[in-house]
Amino acid sequence: MATEQNKLPAIISHCKEYGFIFPSSDIYDGLSAVYDYGQWGVELKKNIKDTWWKSMVYMHENIVGLDSAIFMHPTIWKASGHVDNFSDPMIDNLDSKKRYRVDHLIEGFAEQLAANSEEASKAILVSMDQLLSNDDFAGLKQLIIDHKIKCPISGTCNWTDVRQFNLMFSTQLGSVADDSDTIYLRPETAQGIFVNFLNVQKSGRMKIPFGIAQIGKAFRNEIVARGFIFRMREFEQMEMQFFVRPGTQKEWYESWKTTRMQWHLDLGIPAEKYRFHDHVKLAHYADAACDIEYDFPMGFKEVEGIHSRTDFDLTQHQLYSKKKQVYFDNDIDETTGKPYGNYVPYVIETSIGLDRTILLVLSEAYTEEDLSTPEKQDSRVVLKFPNKLAPIKLAILPLMKKDGLSEIAKELMNECRESFFCFYEEKDSIGKRYRRMDALGTPFCVTIDHQTKEDGTVTIRYRDSMEQERINMSDVRNKVMEALK
Ligand code: GAP
Repeated sequence: MATEQNKLPAIISHCKEYGFIFPSSDIYDGLSAVYDYGQWGVELKKNIKDTWWKSMVYMHENIVGLDSAIFMHPTIWKASGHVDNFSDPMIDNLDSKKRYRVDHLIEGFAEQLAANSEEASKAILVSMDQLLSNDDFAGLKQLIIDHKIKCPISGTCNWTDVRQFNLMFSTQLGSVADDSDTIYLRPETAQGIFVNFLNVQKSGRMKIPFGIAQIGKAFRNEIVARGFIFRMREFEQMEMQFFVRPGTQKEWYESWKTTRMQWHLDLGIPAEKYRFHDHVKLAHYADAACDIEYDFPMGFKEVEGIHSRTDFDLTQHQLYSKKKQVYFDNDIDETTGKPYGNYVPYVIETSIGLDRTILLVLSEAYTEEDLSTPEKQDSRVVLKFPNKLAPIKLAILPLMKKDGLSEIAKELMNECRESFFCFYEEKDSIGKRYRRMDALGTPFCVTIDHQTKEDGTVTIRYRDSMEQERINMSDVRNKVMEALK
């Protein structure tokens, strides 16, 4: 049985064995921090995307979608601050040749120290925060030396100086090297939304407050990429920028905090598995920010960020593109009795990692159960996904291929497949097929047997309770539909 400590390795191997997630380029021994989604992973991913899209776009009449390109004009990244600021201070160990993010290295040391002295641990974190906020790289190295912080691989203190590394991937646009421009793979989807703000506002006749939502790939050359799909170099984000009147951003920020936390709870995940973490050190563009953290197998970590981004991004794009990014607000300001007029809107952003959400859902669903009886040792691995997220909703299993049972099963398959994803299987014993469906997280299995031919009933088996009951075959579709509501 997997303990909390080895739950993540157990999930990783389950995902590979059952076709959820594979290391990228597996037959070439993989590519660090890059993963491929297999036949069931891709369904899980799609269901999570659909749930988010429905809640953000379909449930809000003032939010619309967008799918902007990954490649964008390089000046966008200058304007957004990514060229100059999207970097982390790093340090290399000369013996192990391993590179570390300085804050991660010091935090790891402080965590160990906390077992003996909470105070000493806190003191080192306070010093680190001060040095980081002053970009004092020499001071950070001195802190590492003074505390004799060792490389976890080589065990030595043979460190280089602390240096900044930009996390954006770059490539060349154009076929002739001399003429080509350096462009970047976007490190966030948000900028695609900002640069389309006026296109969407004008073409959609959107009135403030309104939002633009987008799901898409983002790329970051993470130096320390670890934790399976928690920190990847190629990943997906689900982001929404909500444009508001200046002065109302605090209210909207609080309102989006509540709405987004409710989305997480609506996945059926208990409230104690989540917490907010308010940022003390704010990014250059924000006047308030927090993370929604989930209790992953490796502890509480960020899954979503909610940021009050002020008018920073639109103002920067106005400056660099020399195109006005203003909105005319003809609502009447009660204090002046006049329209609010022209302004650059303020923005509240909600930004959630799709892959991190998948890890969250897998961590919550992965369960090992001991089913031993005095007569027999037995166990099962079951993925207890919420019904709406399960890759397969219904497995249709004829007891045997012959005697016309598979024909009846296929009839049921044809009746249901338009409404939800069904899986048909006739190989192996029924017990083995149930266990396989448990491992894939299928909430309902239906068995067609000889009695079906006589009275039109089937056995329906429920994943979590493993209970079985006899129902009319004609009721199966509605029963599953009801459970998906
Ligand atoms: N536009 C704002 C933004 O990108 P962020 O906090 O850097 O903010 C938002 O990223 C979310 O994207 C994070 O909360 C996380 O879920 C996800 N994310 C960021 N870097 C990631 C990575 N390397 N691998 C997987 N997910 C990542």
